[in-house]
Amino acid sequence: MADAGAISDFDALAAGKAIDDDANYQWRVARRPVGNVVPKDFDWHVTDLAEPGPGETLLKTHYLGLAPVMRAYMVGGSPSGESALKIGDVIHGRGVAQIVKSRHPDWQEGQMVQGQIGWQTYKVSAMTEQEKFFAMPHNGLPAALGSGVLGMTGLSAHAGLFACGSPQEGDRMVLSGAAGGVGSMVSQMAANVVGCDVVGMAGGAEKCAFIRDHGCRAAIDYKADDIEEALDRLCPDGIDLYFDNVGGETLEACMERLRMHSRVVLCGSISEYTRPEPFKLSNYTRLRRTDSRMQGFFVYNHLDRWDAVMDDIAGWIHAGKLVPVQDMAEGFAAMPKALAQLYHGRNVGVQCCSVRGEPEQWN
Ligand SMILES: NC(=O)c1ccc[n+]([C@@H]2O[C@H](COP(=O)([O-])OP(=O)(O)OC[C@H]3O[C@@H](n4cnc5c(N)ncnc54)[C@H](OP(=O)(O)O)[C@@H]3O)[C@@H](O)[C@H]2O)c1
Repeated sequence: MADAGAISDFDALAAGKAIDDDANYQWRVARRPVGNVVPKDFDWHVTDLAEPGPGETLLKTHYLGLAPVMRAYMVGGSPSGESALKIGDVIHGRGVAQIVKSRHPDWQEGQMVQGQIGWQTYKVSAMTEQEKFFAMPHNGLPAALGSGVLGMTGLSAHAGLFACGSPQEGDRMVLSGAAGGVGSMVSQMAANVVGCDVVGMAGGAEKCAFIRDHGCRAAIDYKADDIEEALDRLCPDGIDLYFDNVGGETLEACMERLRMHSRVVLCGSISEYTRPEPFKLSNYTRLRRTDSRMQGFFVYNHLDRWDAVMDDIAGWIHAGKLVPVQDMAEGFAAMPKALAQLYHGRNVGVQCCSVRGEPEQWN
C-alpha cells in the first residue's frame, strides 16, 4: 500500500483543473494501479459536448459516488458486471444527473436520475438496462443523497442487513467497516430500526467516537486494540450476527465467537483487495457446530426492491432513525483523491463528490 503521505500528491493532480458547462470533462484510466491508486493512474481529458441522437438523453452530472470496487475496475476487472475497462476508458461510477436534453420516449428533460454516468461531467446515454438508471423521487431530501445513502450504498446496506442478516431485536451484532458508507447505515438501521445491540469496528479514535454516536453501543479500534481481547470483553456471550465489510483475520475472529443460530453477512472484504493472495478462512466449520449460516450478496441482485428500499430509507431519515452521512469532496477535479481516501480510511460515511451541487430545480 502507498503510504498516507501519498494522498497529498493528489492535490497537485487536481490543481488548475476547473470545469465549465461548455465541454465534457472526464477522468480516464491512464495505467493499471499496482497496489493502491496513485496520481499517475488517472488521465484528465476534455472533449466536445455530444448531441443526443434518437432514443438518447444528454445527462449533466451533479454528484458522483466513490466505492472501493473502483480500483478493481481500473485494473481491468468487472466484479460488478460492468464492462472491463481498457487503458484510456472513462472510469465507471454511479452518480446523480439531470436530463438536460431528451430524445428518449420514457425520460423527460428536467428529471433527476441516478445511474451509471462514469467519471465525467456530461453523458449521452440511451438509458440502457446495463446503466441501471432510476428516476429520483421528490421526497423532501437533497439530490446529493442519490449518490450514496439513497443510492447503491443504501440498497447494499438494506439488502445485506435485512435480506441476508435477518436481524432480530436484541441480537448481539458485530459490524466491521462501521464508519464507512455501508457500515454507517447498517449500524443505525440495526440499532434504531430493529433494536440490535451493535458493536462496531473502525480505524482510529475519531472514527470510534463517530460510530458510538451512530448506532454502536461500543467501538473497537482495530488499528490500536487487540481485536480478540476486545471481542471477548464486549461480546462475552458471543455474536448472533456479524456483518462483514473487511474479510481477512477480522472475519476469522468473529467466526470463532458465533453463538447458536447466528448469521454472517458477507458484504465486502476491503482488507484483502490489495493483497497479492486472497485470505484463506480456516474456521468455516464453526458454522456447522453452531447451526449458523453465512450468506453473501451482490447489490445488483436486489434491484427489484429498489423503490421499497428507498421509501424505507427516506422514511427512517424523516423519522430521525437514520442520519445520512456523506463525505462530500468538492469539485470534479477531486475524484482521484476521493477514491484514494477510501483505501487510506480517510472517509467517514459514504464518499461522494459534488460536481455541480444541487440543481436549481427539477421536475
Ligand atoms: N456485496 C455488495 O454488493 C457490496 C456493495 C457495496 C459495497 N460492498 C463492499 O462493502 C465494503 C464497504 O463498502 P463502502 O462503499 O461502504 O466503503 P467504505 O466503508 O465507505 O470505505 C472503505 C472503508 O474501509 C475501511 N478500510 C480500508 N482499508 C481497510 C483495511 N485494510 N482493513 C479494514 N478496514 C479497512 C476504511 O475505514 P477505517 O478507517 O475504519 O479502516 C475505509 O473508510 C467494501 O468492502 C465494499 O467492497 C459490497
